[in-house]
Amino acid sequence: MAARKQSSKRKQPSRTRRGGARKSASSRSTRQPSDAIALLRADHQMVQGLFDQFEKTRSEDRKAALAEQICNELTIHAQIEEEIFYPAAREAIRDEDLLDEAKVEHDSAKTLIEQIQGEGPQGELFEAKVKVLGEYVKHHVKEEQNELFAQVRKTKLDLKELGERLQQRKTELMEGGGAAGGRTASSGMAGSRRSAQAAKTTKRAEKEGIVAAFTRGLGLARE
Ligand SMILES: [Fe+2]
Ligand SMILES: [Fe+2]
Repeated sequence: MAARKQSSKRKQPSRTRRGGARKSASSRSTRQPSDAIALLRADHQMVQGLFDQFEKTRSEDRKAALAEQICNELTIHAQIEEEIFYPAAREAIRDEDLLDEAKVEHDSAKTLIEQIQGEGPQGELFEAKVKVLGEYVKHHVKEEQNELFAQVRKTKLDLKELGERLQQRKTELMEGGGAAGGRTASSGMAGSRRSAQAAKTTKRAEKEGIVAAFTRGLGLARE
């Protein structure tokens, strides 16, 4: 008679917030998405959450930690897609162009990631690059989810088996520190802070060019 109970278990709201940048790498490894697409989508969502946190926080240390984690997550994600998912998709669907574009988009994102990780968190350029990376990834994810995944779903590809392979490779890369494993969220960047500061003036001049180039890239990739 009474209204249905909404839920007996209440969420614990801010538990993961506190150490989000460092924590999720380990908690995530226990999650088992149902198939390849679910796994990749979960990655997309998680990285988007990190970009959102980056936008919101005012703390420079937190920004540095988040940027490092974003770069590590994206590097691993791109690697498992390129090693496992894209080749399988290429074989299953008849849209070479879509996969070629996806690969080019990965390469552009990697260039930006290398710069972000190499130069460190100080200076306007750092934030601009992380933001542009966020826009770039958002675009790429949209294409993957709306076009590539949609097409792959229609094929007879064994997505469960593919998902297991993706998960296994991902775990390997994270544990082996394939892309630094997201472990030293702030230390790597902290070390390069001084040099980044010194280069701040010259970077400013580069800023517009980089942002413009990647924005252009977005436009091109859309075609
Ligand atoms: Fe992806
Ligand atoms: Fe991708």
